[in-house]
Amino acid sequence: MAKPSRIQVLGIIGSPRRGGNTEIIIDATLSGAEIAGALTEKVILNKLNINPCQACDSCSKTGHCIQNDDMHDLLKKMELCDLWVLGTPIYWWGPTAQFKLFLDRWYCPQHQNFKGKHVILAIPFGGEHNKYARHTVGLLTDVLNYLSMKLVEIILAPGMNNRGAVRERKNILEKAYKAGQKAIQMIINS
Ligand SMILES: Cc1cc2nc3c(=O)[nH]c(=O)nc-3n(C[C@H](O)[C@H](O)[C@H](O)COP(=O)(O)O)c2cc1C
Repeated sequence: MAKPSRIQVLGIIGSPRRGGNTEIIIDATLSGAEIAGALTEKVILNKLNINPCQACDSCSKTGHCIQNDDMHDLLKKMELCDLWVLGTPIYWWGPTAQFKLFLDRWYCPQHQNFKGKHVILAIPFGGEHNKYARHTVGLLTDVLNYLSMKLVEIILAPGMNNRGAVRERKNILEKAYKAGQKAIQMIINS
């Protein structure tokens, strides 16, 4: 796939709930990125067929995962995009199962091409305090640091038990929108 001239942004939604808080926050971020001139695309992990990593290590020998599933195409998209907006709600203090399956598959050698990519994290959760997100924030920031990726912003949304509750939290959506704009400016200036 040839790389297009406009900055490409990929929103990756780890919630199974369509129109839920994760998707609303990511939509706001993508809108900010679009207004700053980027092309955006959104993928819903729950709609994809992504198998768990089998730790067979074939990929380290052949460069390819033995699994024939949707992760191949998704990895190609990820490599083409300059900014990823990664979203997962908190499920039991961690990311959703859909998101963790996806993350484990970063074990493949293609993760060497992730270096320098810009990332925004979107994390809604039901608890009223940010401490409920601490393990997920720690997990994801450690992974991004390990892979030398550039974390632009973490959008935390506490108190989000109901579907769409974040629509009432204009400050969070504003932060998400501005993060999208800021990331594109950072990429242009880098
Ligand atoms: C299985 C499950 C586990 C959850 N575990 C937690 C949790 O440990 N801490 C928390 O604050 N919220 C928890 N929640 C609440 C969700 O994080 C919250 O509703 C979030 O806004 C859902 O995002 P969505 O609307 O994008 O699906 C849980 C929800 C579900 C369905």
